[in-house]
Amino acid sequence: MKRRIPYNKPCFEGKELVYIAEAINNGIISGDGQFTKRCHAFLEAELGVKKAFLTTSCTHALEMAAILLNIEAGDEVIVPSFTFVSTANAFALHKARIVFIDIRPDTLNMDETQLEKLITPRTKAVVPVHYAGVGCEMDTILEIAGRHNIAVVEDNAHGLFGKYKGKPLGSLGCMSALSFHETKNVTCGEGGALLLNDPRLIERAEIIREKGTSRSRFFRGEIKKYTWEDIGSSYLPSDILAGFLYAQLEAKDHIQEHRRRIWQYYYSALIPWAQEHGIHLPAIPEHCDQPYHMFYMLMPSHEDRRRMIEHLESHGIRSVFHYLPLHLSGMGVRMGGKKGNCPVTEDISDRLIRLPFFNKLTGIEQECIVEAVFSFYN
Ligand SMILES: Cc1ncc(COP(=O)(O)O)c(C=O)c1O
Repeated sequence: MKRRIPYNKPCFEGKELVYIAEAINNGIISGDGQFTKRCHAFLEAELGVKKAFLTTSCTHALEMAAILLNIEAGDEVIVPSFTFVSTANAFALHKARIVFIDIRPDTLNMDETQLEKLITPRTKAVVPVHYAGVGCEMDTILEIAGRHNIAVVEDNAHGLFGKYKGKPLGSLGCMSALSFHETKNVTCGEGGALLLNDPRLIERAEIIREKGTSRSRFFRGEIKKYTWEDIGSSYLPSDILAGFLYAQLEAKDHIQEHRRRIWQYYYSALIPWAQEHGIHLPAIPEHCDQPYHMFYMLMPSHEDRRRMIEHLESHGIRSVFHYLPLHLSGMGVRMGGKKGNCPVTEDISDRLIRLPFFNKLTGIEQECIVEAVFSFYN
C-alpha cells in the first residue's frame, strides 16, 4: 500500500490517559479542578505572566479579551489580514470595525511600520499575531500603542515557548491568547488560554469566564453564595481536557526538542534547492527564538503552489495552505476591504505552502517529503 503522510496528526506523550483517569478519580470533571490549576501554575511559571486561565479555545480567549476591553460598536481594532478568522471575529462579535493591516514580506508578521497611520481616535486595540511563533516587532508595536493608549492583545496561537528579545511571547501585551488545538505543539484537542499581564484585569476575567458570575470566589470559600455580576459565558474547559493538556505541558522539553530537529532537517535539506529555484523558506530574525510550530515555503507563483500540492499528493503527502486574506473575505469586504489594500498578504497567501509537521513525524517520513519536493522541478 502506498505511504500516506498526513499534514498533521495528534500525538500522545504517554501520560494523557493516566491523568484523565486521575481527573475522573478526583471526582471533579467540570472546570477548574486539580489539573486546570496545575496547567495555570505551569503557564504562569513558564511564561512569567501574572495570571493564566485555561479556556475552551484560543477563539474563546480572544472573545474574553474583547469583553475585558469593553469593545463596542464604533470601536476599531487593528488586525493583520493574514491570520485565522478568530483574530478578527472575536472583536467583530462585539461590533468592532476591523481595520486590516498588511504583513511584512520576511516574517509574515504585522507590518509595524504601517501601524501608526491606521490609528484613529476610535482605535481601541491592536492584535499582533506571532505568525509561526516568530515574534512580531513588539518594541515598536508596544511603543506606538502606548503613546496612543491602545491595548495590545497578542494572538499567540502559534507561539507558545517562542521568545522576542529573550522575553516569552504572550508576556508582552496587556493580555494574550494561546491555542491548544490539535494542530499546535502542545494540545488537548480543542483548548486555549487567556494570559493576563495586567493584574487589574484578573478579577473581571475570572467572572467573565464563569458565565458572568462570582462562582470562582464561591468555590474558593470567599463568599457564601454566587451571583450574576457581569456579562460572560462558559469559557472554562473540563478538567479531563486539562489532564490531557498537563501531560503534554510536562513533556514540553521533549516535544520542543523533537520539533526543533524536524524544522532544522527541513531547513538544511531544502535551502540549497530553494535558493536554486527562487523559493523562500522561513526567515527567523536573530532576536527571535521560534518554537518550531510550522514549516512553510513561499513558491514563486500561485500556479507553482497549486502544482506542488498536487505533486506531493501524488506521492501520498498532504500539504496545505492558508490564510485567505481576511480583508477580501465576505465579512472583510462588507467591512470595506478591497483588493490592493494589503498587497503583501494578497501575494503571500497565494504562494504559501505548509509541509507536514507534527510531534511524531519520523526521519524516514521527512526524507520522503524532501525527496518528493526535490522531484517537483524534474
Ligand atoms: C493565529 C490564530 N489565531 C487563533 C486561532 C484559533 O484557535 P482555536 O482553534 O484554538 O480557537 C488560530 C487557529 O489555528 C490561529 O491560527
